[in-house]
Amino acid sequence: MPRNKVRFGIVGCGVISPLHAKGIAACSDAELVAVADVDPERRQAFAAEYGAARTFADYEEMMREAEIDAVSICVPSGMHADVTLAAAKYGKHVLCEKPLDIRPDRMTEMISACRAADVRLGAVYQRRVSPVAIALKRALEAGAFGRLVLCDAYLKYHRSQAYYDSAGWRGTWAVDGGGALMNQGVHGVDMVQWLGDGIRRVFGRTAALVRNIEVEDTAVAVVEYMNGAFGVIEGATSVYPERPSHFEIHGERGTVVFDDNGVIEWTFADDAAQGLKPESGAAAANGHQLFVADMVEAILDHRDPLVSGEEARKAVDIILAIYESQRTGREIVLGSAGA
Ligand SMILES: NC(=O)c1ccc[n+]([C@@H]2O[C@H](COP(=O)([O-])OP(=O)(O)OC[C@H]3O[C@@H](n4cnc5c(N)ncnc54)[C@H](O)[C@@H]3O)[C@@H](O)[C@H]2O)c1
Repeated sequence: MPRNKVRFGIVGCGVISPLHAKGIAACSDAELVAVADVDPERRQAFAAEYGAARTFADYEEMMREAEIDAVSICVPSGMHADVTLAAAKYGKHVLCEKPLDIRPDRMTEMISACRAADVRLGAVYQRRVSPVAIALKRALEAGAFGRLVLCDAYLKYHRSQAYYDSAGWRGTWAVDGGGALMNQGVHGVDMVQWLGDGIRRVFGRTAALVRNIEVEDTAVAVVEYMNGAFGVIEGATSVYPERPSHFEIHGERGTVVFDDNGVIEWTFADDAAQGLKPESGAAAANGHQLFVADMVEAILDHRDPLVSGEEARKAVDIILAIYESQRTGREIVLGSAGA
């Protein structure tokens, strides 16, 4: 028996939204029905291009009136909780762009509202579905590294002042929630915390060294993972030229080094682990498509999505702890950072 299609509404028709529309179009069990954006030209053009039958200025009205089962949240980061809470109220499943939100109390509300309403809450952290991430997680779970000792992320990007000036929310504490780490680096922070099974404590320094913004364009943190491994996280939007995201994972019995272009080193003492090396090392180009397909399956099968709300908040909590460390000059133990 063919299954009913999951009908989507997209909230926010800016830079990232086309990837959601394309992911929905590529999924045989999904269809795009409606879009909402406060900007009339954007929502009309977007609906015309991606074939959404209905457009709304107000996302609550869309949730009330359009026949949709799920929403993709593509509005600025500090608004993710507002839209999620409305979705839970109207019984709609949520696929939320990263970061989950920018405030701990709001993330808690999102997660509990969706659990209480029995709707799925998933977030897009597309780095997790790259072939190298999947192979690496498998190698870690198989114990191929022996004891993990170092797990480093170097997230050195370039964003011009024009980028920060291109939308009023960019580079603000109130809506972007942070800079090089909270916006761009959150993918890499999520990746290392996922590989290292969580981060226990951080000591960080952050500053706007180059750009005229409230939030950081340059950051560094020393971290300790739950399993006792150490690591360094560097994040920037201030460097020239931009570097590929770069990761170095070392255990007593293995080393994997990779970047956005592929695997640079995959060396293990054990032959079996050596054989886990992925065919392709590069970042997944179709990440959003995979996340939309996973969300659709999660809805139809009534299971948690690949990156649930609980999972998605971890990177945000770590970044907020790094900011807290900068403010206080102290090491922050996760769970004890001031909210
Ligand atoms: N996964 C990724 O790789 C990735 C990449 C880029 C952005 N993002 C995330 O996606 C989100 C959006 O980023 P963007 O770059 O597309 O931003 P953007 O500024 O280009 O687009 C945001 C859109 O939301 C609309 N909007 C604002 N308030 C609204 C409201 N109340 N109701 C309806 N629409 C409203 C704006 O008019 C705009 O069209 C951010 O949270 C960002 O972190 C994720």
